[in-house]
Amino acid sequence: MIKGAQLYEGKAKKVYATEDPELLIVSYKDDATAFNGLKHGTISGKGVINNRMSNALMRLLEQQGIPTHFVQELSERETLVRKVNIVPLEVIVRNLSAGSFSKRYGVEEGIPFKEPTVEFSYKNDALGDPLLNDSHALALGLATREELNQIRQYALEINRLLREFWLSCGVTLVDFKLEFGRPADGSIILADEISPDTCRLWDSATGEKLDKDRFRRDLGGVEDAYQEVMARLERRFGSSC
Ligand code: TMP
Repeated sequence: MIKGAQLYEGKAKKVYATEDPELLIVSYKDDATAFNGLKHGTISGKGVINNRMSNALMRLLEQQGIPTHFVQELSERETLVRKVNIVPLEVIVRNLSAGSFSKRYGVEEGIPFKEPTVEFSYKNDALGDPLLNDSHALALGLATREELNQIRQYALEINRLLREFWLSCGVTLVDFKLEFGRPADGSIILADEISPDTCRLWDSATGEKLDKDRFRRDLGGVEDAYQEVMARLERRFGSSC
């Protein structure tokens, strides 16, 4: 597949055209940002880990019937994906209290929920990705009611599958963010990435944070944490993933 013009550069990835109008190449960077781009840094080797981890997890989800944008890993940082129109929603699933949930509702981090929560934010950097509900999303024309229902159903099923997978690696899946898109056929598929940038992953035995919170909160050991979760995933899948 020939890499064409760069179409877009985001905070953590670049996107390139290909000769097929329905396929794109994403290239993962080591750049890290937090707090809506206010904090900048580099996490050495992150792009390689996020590319390989996201692909391994999307393959796992595909095997379980979840449609994703993943097509083929091209190199350690680059992947061929289906072109989609991104639904401008950040879909966040939580199993334990943490992050903005703890802050908003004044509860300590680490409280397990009886049932997972699903919430939507409007994907809009200028507005700071404000939280919104289904009727707001409908009013803004971000998605149809059927799409919102499908997205919520996929998000909960993905949570069930990933939670079980990470548990088998000795990792607690605290929460994560998903993005969905519409390919040319108008269906809804999982897009973007699943990585320590977009998930909270805690060591199940010690509670140690093995994700981007180490960068967001200046905890140190950022690269080591990314390498540790990747090593656990590889041990689980075999290093061929
Ligand atoms: P939050 O607690 O800050 O709302 O984050 C919930 C989850 O979403 C957490 O796993 C980190 C992820 N996340 C992103 O992937 N991108 C973002 O911009 C934010 C704010 C959170």
